[in-house]
Amino acid sequence: MIKIAPSILGADPLNLERDVRKAEASGCDWLHVDVMDAHFVPNLAFSPDVVRGLRKITALPLDVHLMMDHPESMLEAFIRAGADRITIHTEIGPALPECLKQIRSAGLPAGLALRPGTPLDTVTPWLDQTDLVLAMTVEPGFGGQKLDEHVLGKIRALKAMGYPGEIEADGGIREDNLPLLVRQGLTVAVMGTALFGAEDMKASIRRLHDLCPGE
Ligand code: DX5
Ligand code: ZN
Repeated sequence: MIKIAPSILGADPLNLERDVRKAEASGCDWLHVDVMDAHFVPNLAFSPDVVRGLRKITALPLDVHLMMDHPESMLEAFIRAGADRITIHTEIGPALPECLKQIRSAGLPAGLALRPGTPLDTVTPWLDQTDLVLAMTVEPGFGGQKLDEHVLGKIRALKAMGYPGEIEADGGIREDNLPLLVRQGLTVAVMGTALFGAEDMKASIRRLHDLCPGE
């Protein structure tokens, strides 16, 4: 069954605890924490202190997505804060293998993310050192954008090569396009606007799970 990971970027920043408790009570599977450094992406979001606070109020797996240059400078802080899994971007360059090694040696699953315009073959050399690939379905930085359907090909290719880890997508995912993504091989859907903007988050998540029961 598809795993649903609400992105706290879509939550009310002035009522984060309320929204996280609502997400947990609504039956989601993970909590996605979008970290942004205002350099790798033109936005700034969430520090290790927020992860430390989230750790105290939820048992949901904290799926931390580092949209930042030089993530090596912050890995230790997010690990100590209580992240359950950490994803870095393939575009960061030479620090990539060291970062994957550091995440895994801390006992956490390591993920590699790629922007819509980054070819999949930039991650293939590292796949055996990852537990998840995050195919961004929007240009990272902001919620509420339209899903880029060109990314479906990357999800299909990962499935076709028998990638054993999680295949995650993030950005513009809604009830009407999730089944198409799952048919390509998606296993984790990050959703911000569609969930935190829903009338009834619990009913939405139930429908999403029913729509994509998996094998
Ligand atoms: C982009 C962010 C968004 C957010 C979810 O950098 O990562 O993708 O998590 O976006 P929406 O609101 O489109 O679900
Ligand atoms: Zn994300």
